[in-house]
Parts: sequence; C-alpha cells; structure tokens
Amino acid sequence: MTRRLTILGSTGSVGQQALDVVRAHPDRFELVGLSAASNADLLRAQAAEFKPQYVALEHGEKSALQDCAPNVLAGTGSARALAGAPADVVLNGIVGFAGLSATVAALQAENQVALANKESLVAGGEWIMDLAKNNRIIPVDSEHSAIFQCLEGRSDVEVAEILLTASGGPFFEWDKGRILEARPGDALKHPTWNMGAKITIDSATMMNKGLEVIEAHHLFGTSYDDVRVVVHRQSVVHGGAIFRDGSVILHAALPDMRLPIAFGVLYPERVDVGAKPIGFGGMTWTFEEPRNDVFRCLPLAIEAGRAGEAYPVALNAANEVAVEAFLARRIQFLQIADLIEEVLALVPDFGAMRSMEVIEEVDRWARDEAGRLVERAR
Ligand SMILES: NC(=O)c1ccc[n+]([C@@H]2O[C@H](COP(=O)([O-])OP(=O)(O)OC[C@H]3O[C@@H](n4cnc5c(N)ncnc54)[C@H](OP(=O)(O)O)[C@@H]3O)[C@@H](O)[C@H]2O)c1
Repeated sequence: MTRRLTILGSTGSVGQQALDVVRAHPDRFELVGLSAASNADLLRAQAAEFKPQYVALEHGEKSALQDCAPNVLAGTGSARALAGAPADVVLNGIVGFAGLSATVAALQAENQVALANKESLVAGGEWIMDLAKNNRIIPVDSEHSAIFQCLEGRSDVEVAEILLTASGGPFFEWDKGRILEARPGDALKHPTWNMGAKITIDSATMMNKGLEVIEAHHLFGTSYDDVRVVVHRQSVVHGGAIFRDGSVILHAALPDMRLPIAFGVLYPERVDVGAKPIGFGGMTWTFEEPRNDVFRCLPLAIEAGRAGEAYPVALNAANEVAVEAFLARRIQFLQIADLIEEVLALVPDFGAMRSMEVIEEVDRWARDEAGRLVERAR
C-alpha cells in the first residue's frame, strides 16, 4: 500500500534524508506536498523529481515556484496550510518554534504526524498530546524513536525509567577554560551526526538533550524523575527502557537518521534504507554522567519542564535567540545558558499553554527579553 506523505522542511537535513527514503522505496509513497522556508531553488528541483501535489514556500513569493506543482502556496502560514492537506502522514522536519503551528494544523486535520520538530512538544506539550489522541504522533527524533520501539507492547506499570542517550557534543572532553573560547565553527563540528546548524549547536550545549527530556515526558507520559540521561559518545545506543524487574531494553543502530525517518513514515513497518549494520567486533560502548556543572542547558531545561506552562516556551524561545546570537558571534558559547537562565527568572504568569495565541504571546515575550539581553551582552 502506498502512503500519502507530506514532508515539511524538505530542503533541510531531515527533509532531504526523508526524500532519500522515498527514493529507496518510490512505490511506497505518493507525495502530497513539500515545503521550505526560502530555499526555492532546491524546492523546485525536489518538485521536479518527486512531483508532489503541493509545494509551499514560507518566506517567498508564488512566482519563485511557478509551474512546480498543481498547487503552489507561498508566504506566512504556507507550511501550516500544507500540513492540513489530507495525507496519511505528515513528516514535520521544520526547525524551531516555527514548526509548532504546522504540527497543530496536521493533527487538527486528523493527519498522522511523524515528528522530528521537537520544539512542537516543548512549547505545546500537553495540548499537542491531547490533539494527538485520535491520530498518533510517531517520533522521528532518534532517541524517541528508540524509546518508542523499546516500549511497544509493554504496559506503563512495568516501566521504571526511560533512557535517553546523548553524544555529549564536540566539547564534552574540553575543560571549561577552553569551552569559554569556543567559536561557532568548533560547535558546528558534531562528532557523530551531520545535522542542521541549530540542532548541532543545541547538541554542543546539551540543550538538545534538555528539549528531548521535555519531549519524552510528553510523548511517553513519563515523570521528569524517571527520564534518565546518559552520555554515550558513540551514538549507537539511542535510547531504552528500564523495567521494574531490573532488565533494560536498549535500541541500537549506527547513527543514520534515515532509520527513524523511515520507521516514522512507514510505521509499523521496517524497510531497508541502505543503512550499514552494526559490526560489533572491536566496538566499545561507554556510558557516562552528563557534565551538568559546565553544560547547564540540560538542567535548565529540566527545571523549565518541571515548572511547566510558559516556562518551556520561554526556554525554547530564549534558546533560539541565544543560538542565533552565538552563531553571529554576538555572545560566547557559555553565555547561551546564562541568557536562558536570566529569561526564565523573569517569566510572568501567562496561564495554560492551550492555544496558538497564548503560546505565541509567550514566545514573543521571551524573544524580546532574550534580544534585550543579547544587546546588553555586546
Ligand atoms: N537533522 C537531524 O538529524 C535531526 C535529528 C533529530 C531531530 N531533528 C529535528 O528536526 C527538525 C529539523 O532539523 P534539521 O536539522 O533538519 O533543520 P535544517 O537542516 O535547518 O532544516 C530546516 C527545514 O525547515 C525549513 N524552515 C526553516 N524555518 C522555517 C519556517 N519559519 N517555516 C517553514 N519552514 C522553515 C527550512 O527551509 P529552508 O531550507 O528554506 O531554510 C528547512 O527545510 C528540528 O526540530 C531538529 O531538532 C533533526
């Protein structure tokens, strides 16, 4: 059977790897739509190859995509409109808070969502999980895909904890003095994964793991006390479940996003996407505690997750502003955590995060505060 598939963010790292999965199994997919923010050239080339029904360009004009597809969407809200077009599965590979409204639209249209955009669950957690009750979210983040697979068929009462592994990023072995001097180019060199710039910086600060703890809390209904993070430098074990009888089920694969993407869009099937198998011989797996004293974004995120309501939204927004400022060399690497901590200390009461209007209000507030702090830091 073919799946009607929409890929949001098709020009990005996740999106392009999703198209590799489609290339490997063309008979399994009918492409509903492809989307980008501004990379019209690549989107045009993708449309010529995959012939989707829709193309959507969030930051651009229709004229940039003339004759690309039967339906061309352009301008603010295009990705959201595409997410609501009937599909069997919508893969959300948009980066950042911008992905939230598309996740909401896809779920409201009763499309199943293969979710790479972790920021959706960080900002909209409980609301998104309520919207997803009738039409599951299948996680695409490799750790959550791993945990999802380890938990399948088990009941909640059997599970003591879930395990999220972290690569530790490029600075895990560096001393604090050297990290103080770290430049964007250093932070963009991820030791095991090749990903978009924002998630690569988040991996270096450990914010990525912090966002993933919040994501896991919502996806699996696990309390923050029962989400365990370990640093696993090899990125081969992606996640696991620790059971009350003392046994642990781990999921392992060589780091290759095509695996969780294919699993997410073809769930429950597993298909060959050309990923290399684990060799085992001569391989060592290590597990270490995170360095929370130096990489403070992880504990900050867990604290924000526990506080709930506006805090995770503010955490995410402040992080996006801080990461951009670091990439533009306006703040130093360790100031990313300082800036987020300062914004979190100021969060007023916005009430429950159960509509786009309220969540966007918090996001705007936190971006303004974070922007002000960046100016002050200059
Ligand atoms: N990369 C990975 O291996 C990986 C692994 C796990 C989870 N994730 C998660 O997956 C998401 C995507 O990550 P990525 O690394 O693939 O990012 P990326 O390479 O930066 O790609 C982002 C995609 O989103 C589009 N986009 C950016 N801003 C947008 C906006 N405002 N509205 C609509 N579309 C927008 C981009 O279009 P343009 O190309 O036109 O800018 C691009 O297609 C993130 O949430 C990340 O945390 C990624």
